[in-house]
Amino acid sequence: MRVVVTAGPTREFIDPVRFLSNPSTGRMGFAVAAEAARCGHDVVLIAGPVALPTPKGVSRVDVVSAREMCDAVLSVVGLPDNPTVVVSAAAVADWRPATCARKKLKKRHMDGVLNLVRNPDILKRLAGVERRAGGNLRLVGFAAETGDAVCEAVRKCREKRLSFIVANDVTEPGAGFGVETNKVAFVYPDGQVEQLPLMSKRSVARRIVRQLQHLYP
Ligand code: PMT
Repeated sequence: MRVVVTAGPTREFIDPVRFLSNPSTGRMGFAVAAEAARCGHDVVLIAGPVALPTPKGVSRVDVVSAREMCDAVLSVVGLPDNPTVVVSAAAVADWRPATCARKKLKKRHMDGVLNLVRNPDILKRLAGVERRAGGNLRLVGFAAETGDAVCEAVRKCREKRLSFIVANDVTEPGAGFGVETNKVAFVYPDGQVEQLPLMSKRSVARRIVRQLQHLYP
């Protein structure tokens, strides 16, 4: 199976020295890529700006912004001939500044208001490709929530036409951004939920890859 994994944050620049971003370190996505490669899959990892080494046996494409990540994913996926799964673990910025100044903005020229525009939703774009790919493209998302993770995850799973979504409540101790562990639930479009205990991100990745292999033998 071909496995395309996105990982890390995106950066949305305001000027050459300032950007909007989030605390993703890429650990979760890199663990999925490493585990998929260990299981013998053909893995492409599309990484936002992170400080992690490339896992063994993985091809890596580095990007900075959400639009770059979207272009990279679409060009890698194309209309797949072989069964391809995209695992979207990246924390993609939903918004970017409407303009990016070419030179550092002077404080005296800033009025405290930042105009934002929507970034593309990469998984929704892929859902369009998936419709044309005759079942050869499958999508798995992550949902970073700060409350009722499962309820929001079911909505996202259906809206983005995902095979399943990995929900994590990023306010729980030991889960979400930055840490070595995660506590996730696999949530399916029909509302089924499989809650996993707190475990290392590598173990979560192992469970995800095992589930992919189970769903798409
Ligand atoms: O990188 P770490 O420090 O290890 O942290 C791991 C993590 C918390 C980043 C990871 O476990 C996680 O939850 N990743 C998804 C974060 C997120 O952006 O969730 P979301 O609920 O906002 O987005 C839902 C899904 O849509 C995600 O699969 C996301 O990649 C995707 N998305 C979001 C926005 C966008 N414009 N395009 C997308 O494809």
